Amino acid sequence: MFNSAAVFDTSEGTSKRFSVPVVQELASQHLHSLPERYIRSEKERPNDFPLQQTDIPIIDMDMFLSDSEFCRQKELEKLGTACQQWGFFQAVNHGIPVSMMERMKKIVREFVQLPLEEKLKYEMQEAEGYGQLFVASDNQVLDWSDIVFLTTLPTENRKMNFWPTTPADFRETVDRYALEIQKLCKTIFCLLSEKIGLKRDTFINMCGEMEQAIRMNYYPACPRPDLVLGISPHADGSALTALLQDDETVGLQIRKDGQWFSIQPIPGALVINVGDVLEVLSNGIYKSIEHRAVTNIDRDRVSIAMFYTPRKEAELGPAPELIDELNPCQYRTFIHEDYMRHFFRSKLEGKACLEFVRIK
Ligand code: OGA
Ligand code: NI
Repeated sequence: MFNSAAVFDTSEGTSKRFSVPVVQELASQHLHSLPERYIRSEKERPNDFPLQQTDIPIIDMDMFLSDSEFCRQKELEKLGTACQQWGFFQAVNHGIPVSMMERMKKIVREFVQLPLEEKLKYEMQEAEGYGQLFVASDNQVLDWSDIVFLTTLPTENRKMNFWPTTPADFRETVDRYALEIQKLCKTIFCLLSEKIGLKRDTFINMCGEMEQAIRMNYYPACPRPDLVLGISPHADGSALTALLQDDETVGLQIRKDGQWFSIQPIPGALVINVGDVLEVLSNGIYKSIEHRAVTNIDRDRVSIAMFYTPRKEAELGPAPELIDELNPCQYRTFIHEDYMRHFFRSKLEGKACLEFVRIK
């Protein structure tokens, strides 16, 4: 019933793996009481049921292909505001076929339905494969989810032995989806660069060739959703993240002005959010917002996060053009790989990771 969670290394700099249960197996046992390791402290519990809902901005990606400069500018304005005030938006008319998105969710479900023994062939090691991430100690409270984490781009960085071969089209489907999402993220990244007066390719040039990883989240139904979290509060370490989720099942929550709000899925839309890297590059203009996922009592949930990230050798810091007397530099320069090491070695904890590079 146990499998491994992988971390790059511990805070002492040594490599260590922690064994954690497969949550799906726990959930299937119809336990009367939850294992203690999943029970959150009172202040972390999602006890604000019934949840408040909020609508994050909706951005029509079609507008950026418009012949009308007026329409384009208007949508660009909305996109900028969304990323400055919310750090989150829903992208619609993004051009990624609905059939491809549906198939992506389906392959995750088909994979998790395989016998445990089959899934454990892809057991996580060094942050690739099936298991759990961000487990940094034997006694930390665990997330109510099982995940598959894979490096997707550039293709030569893929570790194919962690890529499932069942369902039969798993690899091909992820491959095609990865390319589509990369294109979409690039478009958004360039627009966000343009929006704050930089050249369209300034951010991309600062990052080197962009890389990508996928995190497939499976949140089994939970008998006590009031006591657990599907994923701990965190901000993403990426530049941008594109989240695909079940149409019918609410789970994602974002923190705005200190309060947690549920995000209602829009069928066919992708939830896009600003990650720590973009907050840094923009010197804090764009906000990497804390978010988490909650579980449901009567249904499981699938979500798929694609992380659009700089290459690991990239030296990152705020774009020099954005800094002057009125706008002092807010983050120190760092190598992306060092940031990621720091990110993966800790448990997920709100926006704590960004403090690593923030100038006090
Ligand atoms: C993530 C994430 C939220 C969700 O994978 O980084 O924030 O709703 N997921 O699954
Ligand atoms: Ni996230």
